[in-house]
Amino acid sequence: MKVSPSILTCDFGYAADEVRFVEDTGADMVHLDVMDGVFVPNISFGPAVIGSLRPHTSLFFDVHLMMAQPRRMLPAFAKAGADMLNIHLECDDPIDETLADIHALGKKAAITLKPATPAEAAFPYLEQVAMVLVMTVEPGFGGQSFMSDMLPKIAALRQEIDRRGLQVDIQVDGGINADTARLVAEAGATVAVLGSALFNAEQPSTLVKTVQAM
Ligand code: DX5
Ligand code: ZN
Repeated sequence: MKVSPSILTCDFGYAADEVRFVEDTGADMVHLDVMDGVFVPNISFGPAVIGSLRPHTSLFFDVHLMMAQPRRMLPAFAKAGADMLNIHLECDDPIDETLADIHALGKKAAITLKPATPAEAAFPYLEQVAMVLVMTVEPGFGGQSFMSDMLPKIAALRQEIDRRGLQVDIQVDGGINADTARLVAEAGATVAVLGSALFNAEQPSTLVKTVQAM
């Protein structure tokens, strides 16, 4: 699997150092959790912070937009240096049009499913995205426990993607560590978000390499 560490649980007083730390672990990309305080009961950071982090790493910026209305902010995130823009299927904006806007900005598009949203909800968009993110916690906070009842959803998505012969990644986000990463890899996930597990790890690079080998 590819590894995309989330910096949500990092010390934002040293955000540039934390992004360099993520790059030094050998991770494949950086997962940037944008929260608007409306779609989720938390506020994190926006385009200004992402733009200030951009010069400090060449890693791919995987931007997870936990926003009720992401569409109007897409140009700002693209300008800030996002490489992938990932919207929630549960957001207020029209999905097809919002995905088209992301492509028009020259960025990769992804969609996210909250735990209560079934795999089938993503099926109409599989031809329009590079990745589907299956949340294994309720979005809003790091450090929560992995929801193992999401495993059949991952498997159902993998089955549909493969049935159609598509090259679509399945990312899993929330409570991922060396143990739960193995479960989601077996179910068909190809990208793991590591948040608190990485920032609390004794040997972060070892954890990243272990998950990348799954
Ligand atoms: C939660 C975020 C996740 C979270 C993962 O809403 O989308 O990316 O930061 O953190 P851990 O790995 O600590 O669950
Ligand atoms: Zn996330």
